[in-house]
Amino acid sequence: MSVSNLERAAPASAARQQFALDVRRGLEQPCQKELPSTYLYDAVGSALFEAITHLPEYGLTRADERLLRRHSAAIASRLPAGTVVAELGSGSGKKTRYLLEALAKHRGLLYFPIDVSPTALAACKQELCSAASVVPLEHSYFEGLQIAAGRRRPGEALLVLFLGSTIGNFDRAGAREEFLRTIASILSPGDALLLGTDLVKPQSQLILAYDDRAGVTAAFNRNLLARINRELDADFDLPQFAHEARYNQRHQRVEMHLRSLRRQSATIRGAGLSVNFEKGETIWTESSHKFDLHQIPSLARATGFTHVESWVDFEWPFAENLWVIPANPE
Ligand code: AVJ
Repeated sequence: MSVSNLERAAPASAARQQFALDVRRGLEQPCQKELPSTYLYDAVGSALFEAITHLPEYGLTRADERLLRRHSAAIASRLPAGTVVAELGSGSGKKTRYLLEALAKHRGLLYFPIDVSPTALAACKQELCSAASVVPLEHSYFEGLQIAAGRRRPGEALLVLFLGSTIGNFDRAGAREEFLRTIASILSPGDALLLGTDLVKPQSQLILAYDDRAGVTAAFNRNLLARINRELDADFDLPQFAHEARYNQRHQRVEMHLRSLRRQSATIRGAGLSVNFEKGETIWTESSHKFDLHQIPSLARATGFTHVESWVDFEWPFAENLWVIPANPE
């Protein structure tokens, strides 16, 4: 028992230290202050995001789920028999079930959910253990993927799932492509990627999806400052920061910001930092890139994949895209 306590103590403080460094780097940016969107997802933030997926204004998750429910047989038919599955970010497992069931039709299926959160992995295993042999990997995406790629038997193809349009959260196109290229470099010819991408839609609809009437997304965004207050001993005055969602046409993305309602300062003792805010100044907290369908095959080509097929939901424009690693990469 004391051993496991010891084992936990070090990583927890290392994670906290990294959090402090990232907060410091982001808030010291001279022009546009920013905070990494990954920190939105502590226990409170994850629960708020789960609530967001039920909002009438936010159709993304339901579209993702509908597509997997409707087309899992067609997706499975495009993959060789004996495909094993690895999922980046295990989520709740609900939408993955349709696909695993289609792939497991004729034989047992090996499924590696990859997530840094043990809580998410436990929930996912519980949800999906009846559909596949679940091997949870508590690792970062690339480490976990390397392990999964090494564990499949000769002749078995690997299908990587990256659902929910998480790919949209990279704030620069360069980072997005580098991420996909790294995945391609871990995979072998014949392996596949199923990539969920939210599509461009009318701006008013996008803004409402990220600024809902019940204020859940506002709470999700503000929780980032609340988390810094909790974990880094800071004194952000939460009511003095307003949630804002904007559409950046040039970069094809929705941006979430927190706008300082007055001239104020905050002290983050855990990061050894004091920050001043002008009235109206914002902290940029998240980007959600939106894609055009015609951009998908070129993104595949640019990152080492071949585009196979897209399945599109027209109620809430969203695409599941199946890519493979070509036998003879150029
Ligand atoms: C889970 C990252 C896909 O970008 O739409 C929802 C997160 N942020 N509302 C998204 C989110 C605000 C969501 N992703």
